[in-house]
Amino acid sequence: MPRKPIIGGNWKCNPKNAAGVDELISAFNGCGFDSSKVDVVICPTAVHIAQCKSKFDAKINVSSQNCSKEAEGAFTGEITVGQLMDLGINWTLIGHSERRAKYGETNDDLAKKVEKAQEAGINVIFCIGEQLEERNAGKTKDVCKEQLLAVVPKIKDWSKIVIAYEPVWAIGTGVVATTEQAQESQKDCRQIIADAVSQEVADAVRIQYGGSVSPDNCNDLIACPDVDGFLVGGASLKPTFTTIIEGVEKATGA
Ligand code: PGA
Repeated sequence: MPRKPIIGGNWKCNPKNAAGVDELISAFNGCGFDSSKVDVVICPTAVHIAQCKSKFDAKINVSSQNCSKEAEGAFTGEITVGQLMDLGINWTLIGHSERRAKYGETNDDLAKKVEKAQEAGINVIFCIGEQLEERNAGKTKDVCKEQLLAVVPKIKDWSKIVIAYEPVWAIGTGVVATTEQAQESQKDCRQIIADAVSQEVADAVRIQYGGSVSPDNCNDLIACPDVDGFLVGGASLKPTFTTIIEGVEKATGA
């Protein structure tokens, strides 16, 4: 069974106002992709989630960039998976490298978040990836393994999990992984899942590549057999993000 490609747009803490959000919404709504061939998931800031949910065409999914590891209660600044689901949001990112590095989220925190998402039945894009020093020290596979195995025991429904392999040195730097690097690491991630869970789960789980993906490099990357789509940061803040969606759709042979 071929895996359906999935393109995420991670807007991080952008755009600066609601008018900027509206501009992107109308540009992306104008993209004539077929949602039976490719999934598109946009991750706006929490304050723009409702605007995006009400204005994006139904074929464009809206996701949060984070969720709480806690249930409702005295957790200032947090958003629970239950509150997201209440707004009709059934996707969340978990474990983005900026959350790990800038907000100190640990593997243990992320395992709790994945557990909450699984209990609620919300879809997760779970981000992993190595730092440059780790790659240079030949530790890429070990890092991915540690990050994946931290959450594997919490996953009961793999149909609700997408992995985003994002080498940290490629995020926001303009230094994209080579097709060989992306393919090798993503094949390794699939093997880690095969060994820890089953070959069947590993064959079915979608693994995105993330890190300086652009309209110029997406066609080569999507040709890699273990690259099932992208998680796009900077290039998802431009109307030309739609060319990435169209390129990936074309690559499905449609
Ligand atoms: P980038 O970000 O595409 O700007 O490198 C990717 C990400 O952070 O998910």
